[in-house]
Amino acid sequence: MKTELLALLQEENFVSGQKISETLHVSRTAVWKIISHLRDEGYEIQAVPNKGYCLKRIPDVITEEACLREMKTRWAGRNLVYCPEVDSTNTLAKKLGEQGAVHGTLVVTDMQTGGKGRRGRSWYIPKGEAIAMTLLLRPCLEPRCASMLTLVAALAVSRAIDGETGLQTSIKWPNDIVYGGKKICGILTEMSADMDEIHYVAVGIGINTGHMEFDSELREKADTLFHITKHFLPRRILIARVMEEFETCYEIFCGAGTLEPLRDAYEARLANKGNRVRVLEPNHEYDGICLGITQGGELLVQNAAGEVRTVVSGEVSVRGIYGYV
Ligand code: BTN
Repeated sequence: MKTELLALLQEENFVSGQKISETLHVSRTAVWKIISHLRDEGYEIQAVPNKGYCLKRIPDVITEEACLREMKTRWAGRNLVYCPEVDSTNTLAKKLGEQGAVHGTLVVTDMQTGGKGRRGRSWYIPKGEAIAMTLLLRPCLEPRCASMLTLVAALAVSRAIDGETGLQTSIKWPNDIVYGGKKICGILTEMSADMDEIHYVAVGIGINTGHMEFDSELREKADTLFHITKHFLPRRILIARVMEEFETCYEIFCGAGTLEPLRDAYEARLANKGNRVRVLEPNHEYDGICLGITQGGELLVQNAAGEVRTVVSGEVSVRGIYGYV
C-alpha cells in the first residue's frame, strides 16, 4: 500500500486525501496512517488544507544492497562495507587494509564522527546529506606514484557528477571538485608503504550531495549538489557512477604507469589552467600562470620571470588570485 501511495504522490504535486482513499480503496483514516508510517521512514510529506498531500523529499538510503544493485563494476566497490556510523571511512578502510581486505574494497557510511580532511583539518558531514566513502587499493606501483591516484580519483568523481547531474564541474588541482567557484567534493589519499612497495592506498572521497548549512566562512567556498541543481540525486547512484568511472580511469592509469593517457581529460577540467595562481611554498610565495600538469601529476606554473616551475602536491598550496579557485 505504501508503494502505491508513493506512486500517486509522485504523479502529481498535490493529491487530496479523498483521491488517495478512492484510488487505493481504503478509508481516510488508513490514508493518514500510511502517511504517518512513511514520515517515520524519513519521507517528508507536506499536508496543506484544501490541497492535499505533497511529497517533498524521499529518504536517501545507502545500504550495501542498495549500492551494489546500482554498481556495474568488476572490482571497484564490489566488496562493499557499509557502516551506518563510523569515525572516519579512511581510518576504517586502513584498518581493513591491515587485515588483508581485497583491492577495491569500498567503505561507505551515513555519518562520520571524526571525518578527516587534508592538512590535518576535520571534515564534517551532516547525517544522510553527503557521500563519505573510502576505496581501498593495492596498486602495483612505486610508492612515489601513489599521489597520482588522487588526480585519477578527482577525474572520476568529476565525470560521475557531470554524468548524473548535467553540470560541468571542474577540478581545482590536485583534487577538489568545484562548481561555480565553490568546492563540492574533497579527496584525502592515505598510503601504507615501505621503501619500494605500496601495501595499500586508501582514497577517501567526500561529496556534498544534500542539504547542508555552512557557516559564514565556508558559505563562500563550499556548496552542495542539491543546492546547485535543486534536484535530489540518490547517493547510491552517484556512489556507483564514481566507482565505474574510477575503475575505468584507474585501469588506464595503471596500464601506462603515468597520468599521460588521462592528462588531456584532466586538464580539460582543470579550473586553474590558463589562470593566475598563487603558489604557497613553506618559505616562499609567488604568483604565476597555471599551464597544466605533468604526466606525474605536478602542476606547471610559469612565474613572472617566464620560468616554468613544477609544483608538487602536499608540499605547497595553490590558490586562485581572486578567490578560492
Ligand atoms: C579535503 O580536505 O578536501 C579532503 C576531504 C576528504 C573527506 C573524505 S570523507 C570520506 C573520507 N573519510 C575521511 O575521514 N575523509 C575522507
